[in-house]
Amino acid sequence: IDPKRRQMLEAHELLQKLYHHLLLHTKEGEPALKYLRGRGFTDEAIEKFGIGYALPAWDFAANMLQKRGFPLSVLEESGLVIRNEKDGKYFDRFRDRIMFPIMDEKGNMVAFAGRAVRKQEHPKYLNSPETPLFNKSKLLFNLNRARGPIRKKQQAVIFEGYADVISADRAGVENGIATMGTSITPEHVRMIKRLTDGVVICYDSDQAGLTAAFRAGKMLSENGCEVRVAQMPDGLDPDDYINQHGGEKFRMDVIGASLTFMAFKMQYFRMNKNLQNEGEKLAYIEEVIQEIAKLENPVEKDLYLRQLSEEFSLSLDALKEQERQYGSRET
Ligand code: CTP
Ligand code: MN
Ligand code: MN
Ligand code: MN
Ligand code: MN
Repeated sequence: IDPKRRQMLEAHELLQKLYHHLLLHTKEGEPALKYLRGRGFTDEAIEKFGIGYALPAWDFAANMLQKRGFPLSVLEESGLVIRNEKDGKYFDRFRDRIMFPIMDEKGNMVAFAGRAVRKQEHPKYLNSPETPLFNKSKLLFNLNRARGPIRKKQQAVIFEGYADVISADRAGVENGIATMGTSITPEHVRMIKRLTDGVVICYDSDQAGLTAAFRAGKMLSENGCEVRVAQMPDGLDPDDYINQHGGEKFRMDVIGASLTFMAFKMQYFRMNKNLQNEGEKLAYIEEVIQEIAKLENPVEKDLYLRQLSEEFSLSLDALKEQERQYGSRET
């Protein structure tokens, strides 16, 4: 291992231990700890995920790490400190934030996500920049812990956020992972597919989350995954849902009752349409038939064509004919 890389990893490890201590055992950490507990983070979760707190000071990490022999240039390259262009001084990237350590697949500590303690603080999350240790398009949060459960259940659950993964874990859903504030990439898909083809998308129940679920589902199913999409009441994210309804309901009514990707698409297509309107109704039916034409399983095709036929009182033969036309047009 390259000595500079080792130093960068050690700096992250050291800082994580310190942040964790500051959160749990100091007066300065109290508001952050209170905030976390108020949101339902248990002591067990804080321990398991190594959550911490960065002091408001400008040069706490820079000083501490420099005293321990880490060169400032290496700390800058690791994303932990920033060099001021004007006076050449170094200052901490993370100040007065709740710190979530980010580990790679092997459990190396490679980055941090810092959450604001107060609502008015922006950005809400401040993540480490891209560094030699950390490339967010190739990292899935919690994969180091979730790999075993994913293999065993032959299912991965993808969330949007850190808090969602952590609350789901507390709810007994230990096969949860999250992207780091970006859309899912082909590299993420490859990483998941090494473990399983079964994926449940469990994104936030808002317009952004639905659109992201549609895109992610498309990429995953095009790459041979069997995709399901979980649904929650309007506006909630999985962490909110678990806090309001409990883990049991989350496992049964959200993960357990997730829709097939096709059923999700049917809901998605009709979301902003008025199906009482003849034109919009036809457009919807066309969209659905085009999706059905992409399905490989003839039984599934039949199921959804029948659903359409019943819902809109259309002849099944006409729908099948249309489906065949789309199917042949594609090949
Ligand atoms: N995110 C980010 N930077 C931001 C906002 C969001 O990197 N300024 C990423 C984080 O990984 C976050 C995810 O996008 O967890 C989802 O964003 P959002 O739903 O807004 O946040 P939550 O995870 O719900 O955060 P919290 O519950 O702590 O409010
Ligand atoms: Mn501890
Ligand atoms: Mn969101
Ligand atoms: Mn959210
Ligand atoms: Mn949230």
